[in-house]
Amino acid sequence: MKHLLKLMDLETKEIIEILNLADQLKYDKKNGIEHHYLKGKTLGMIFQKSSTRTRVSFEVGMYDLGGSALFLSPRDLQIGRGEPVEDTARVLSRYLDGIMIRTFEQEEVENLAKYGSIPVINGLTDYCHPCQVLADLMTIREHKGSIKGKKLCFIGDGNNMANSLIVGGIKMGMSVAIGCPKTHKPDADIMKWASESGDFLCTDDIFEAAKDADVVYTDVWASMGEEAEAEERKKIFAGYQVNSELMSVAKPDAMVLHCLPAHRGEEITADILEAHANEIFDEAENRLHAQKAVMVMCMKDKN
Ligand code: CP
Ligand code: NVA
Repeated sequence: MKHLLKLMDLETKEIIEILNLADQLKYDKKNGIEHHYLKGKTLGMIFQKSSTRTRVSFEVGMYDLGGSALFLSPRDLQIGRGEPVEDTARVLSRYLDGIMIRTFEQEEVENLAKYGSIPVINGLTDYCHPCQVLADLMTIREHKGSIKGKKLCFIGDGNNMANSLIVGGIKMGMSVAIGCPKTHKPDADIMKWASESGDFLCTDDIFEAAKDADVVYTDVWASMGEEAEAEERKKIFAGYQVNSELMSVAKPDAMVLHCLPAHRGEEITADILEAHANEIFDEAENRLHAQKAVMVMCMKDKN
């Protein structure tokens, strides 16, 4: 695996390899066993959007692996003043051993990989959030014992999370159901691929989507970059909430996951979030372990 640009680029066996390594790294960290697989290496982290989990888990992850991480804000980089990504990629490739980027356009991430000569890891775009979904799959396996055959339901906006959950879930043999308004469906090409590749449903009936689900997932109604639409989105998504009524149609032992940050009273009620806090904060923790596995697989053997 050279880069992690989107989950569609990974084979199922590579996803399983990441999850297995992530489990091992988690176990070893808890037992005080260190693995300096990336000793002497430096990861540059470009953030064009805010972050708590991604920023901290990548930085701590590099430290755990014996390397170091540089936080690169667009306020400080020339990229913020219009230096093309094609040039930034070639320059940063001369100094760094890997780049993590969080930005708007998926194309920017793909171009960074195309023009640079070092591994590029996608830390979220408007199109997808692969690192989050690897942590989600790790958490599902941890809590449920297995992934294949389980039903994953996502309620809300057909956004970057929905896109990556569809791809990750289908590749791992899950049944995936999206409950979203007809006007805010996930990416059309991803849905077409999912319908042809596995058990996939997209409906505006959230009860149909959540029926017998093993995992109920939700995310904010207005993503980063959509702040101006927040009020309008509150009206559009008012019926797309994870609450006790919805959970009553899922399996009795269904998990609830949320990539966070959460808006209580919007996409999820406070009582459901608190009832499933154990799962949701395990999920947040697993960002660290899953990303360490991704960094090892992308950067370990690169000079
Ligand atoms: N879930 C997630 O990516 O969180 P941050 O935006 O805090 O990085
Ligand atoms: N859909 C959200 C995910 C945040 C982790 C966003 O893009 O803001």
